[in-house]
Amino acid sequence: MASKLLLLGLLINLLIVKDAQSVGVCYGRNGYGLPSERDVVRLYQRNNITRMRIYDPHHPTLEALRGTNIELMIGVPNDRLQSLNDQNAANIWVRDNIQRYPNVRFRYIAVGNNVDPNNGNSRYVPFVLRAMQNVHNAVRAAGLGNQIKVSTATYTGLLGSSFPPSIGAFRDNVRGFIEPIIRFLSQNNLPMFANIYPYYANPNSNLPFALFTATQPVVIDNGGRQYFNLFDAMLDAHYAAQARLGGGNVEIIVSESGWPSSGGPVATIGNAGTYYRNLIAHVRGTRGTPLKPGRSIETYLFEMFDENRKPGIEVERHFGIFTPNQQPKYGQLSFN
Ligand SMILES: *[C@@H]1O[C@H](CO)[C@@H](O)[C@H](O)[C@H]1NC(C)=O
Repeated sequence: MASKLLLLGLLINLLIVKDAQSVGVCYGRNGYGLPSERDVVRLYQRNNITRMRIYDPHHPTLEALRGTNIELMIGVPNDRLQSLNDQNAANIWVRDNIQRYPNVRFRYIAVGNNVDPNNGNSRYVPFVLRAMQNVHNAVRAAGLGNQIKVSTATYTGLLGSSFPPSIGAFRDNVRGFIEPIIRFLSQNNLPMFANIYPYYANPNSNLPFALFTATQPVVIDNGGRQYFNLFDAMLDAHYAAQARLGGGNVEIIVSESGWPSSGGPVATIGNAGTYYRNLIAHVRGTRGTPLKPGRSIETYLFEMFDENRKPGIEVERHFGIFTPNQQPKYGQLSFN
């Protein structure tokens, strides 16, 4: 009886903790003067951030995570995809970067990021699915299949239509790439990861819609679904696009979302602070999206620090939520 009660208590505890942990933060290292990996992990802990996404199997970061309760999404960089088309190489990757760290809480492996037949990453297209399958096989062979879910991180650029959300569809020339991936995810009960940025979706046209401050629905879609924010609209467009290819039940985890503080007209400290605060409140709540209501939305904020050594357009260097000296850029964000 006592043990049953204990079990029940544990179960309730787990359920509560799961909801409270739905927001993580991406940790990219391409900035000047960033804290050491150990200090970064302490910063996560002090701020009650219990999930982290990293983009490569960086051993100093993995060392710093040992023995912590931070749950990790780890990436296979795009330039490793081709080599992991060999099963043996995938086994070695999992051995060296996962099995060597038994006291790191790996939860997801993102095999490739933003691979797109229509952008500069198109050369990786032929290698994504096989690398995912091989890494998935290696994880299962290591006995970690129940703990670690393997997928790839995609983004809104693959969609040819997305507004209103119910017409969401992948571009025609993307289908041959994404459809077999969706089938693999569906057959193996794995989630899709999607990087979702209202900032890049022309927010100027309706800033309150993008910042979660609209007080009226901006679009009423099929069947009366009311959209008060662009984030939900974009996420549901991804769901609609997946459903068209037989993957309506593949859960989407938002592997990046953020707002820059500088580098463009609506890229301001004020807007970014509003976006992050409202995004956190929205995804931690159990409202869900109009298409997938009633549950929190697992989401990773982009990102811990400004990556001011990144090439590309100016805004890409201003997504940090902390300064390099570990001060919050937007005041205290509440992660629990
Ligand atoms: C972290 O969580 C603890 C316990 O709930 C709380 O007392 C503390 O204020 C939180 N810290 C931050 C920075 O939110």
